Amino acid sequence: MQHIFIKGSSETTLILLHGTGGDEHSLVDIGRFLLPNANLLSIKGNIDENGLTRFFKRKSFGIFDEEDLIFRTKELYDFLQSAAKQYRFDLTKAVGYGYSNGANILGNMLIQIPRSITQAVLAHPMVPRRGIDLPDLSHTHVLITAGDNDPIAPMSESRELERMLKSASADVSMYIGHKEHAISKEELEAVKTWLKKKELIQ
Ligand code: MLT
Repeated sequence: MQHIFIKGSSETTLILLHGTGGDEHSLVDIGRFLLPNANLLSIKGNIDENGLTRFFKRKSFGIFDEEDLIFRTKELYDFLQSAAKQYRFDLTKAVGYGYSNGANILGNMLIQIPRSITQAVLAHPMVPRRGIDLPDLSHTHVLITAGDNDPIAPMSESRELERMLKSASADVSMYIGHKEHAISKEELEAVKTWLKKKELIQ
């Protein structure tokens, strides 16, 4: 997959997954702000939706193509494993940060491939899939950042995802802002606080 890797001085790797219409450059500044010493691996999605890049197909606005989501999640995980070998980092110590469409594939990876990523920030996510058996996620730490007036990823979805992950025994924290679907400065400060609490900032 098209990507940028920036070597850091700590053992942590921050995996960055952009929203619809973004690319591998979109979240690099945010990554640097969140974990200044970490390796950054910023990935571009493989789907072109009328010129807008995404990580998986959708049938219509807010309706995911679940078959493609499952396939692309495995494809992304395979890429992460090969990148970990190539750049010599430990995937088990990585933190995922996904925004919007990137949060949705990351959220799906948590439940489709348990222990693939055990520390994840889901920024403005939706529920990736419903009606499936959930794995044991007791080793997984998640921060959901949401907007109580987000018109694209409604608050009800973030709450449903929180309940879903908690029911699988994940450790889930929430930040709720009021900046619609945008990533705000306050939200990023909340992410930093969470990363500090999880002892991921060295
Ligand atoms: C999605 O399709 O993943 C969500 O609707 C968010 C987005 O617009 O990317």
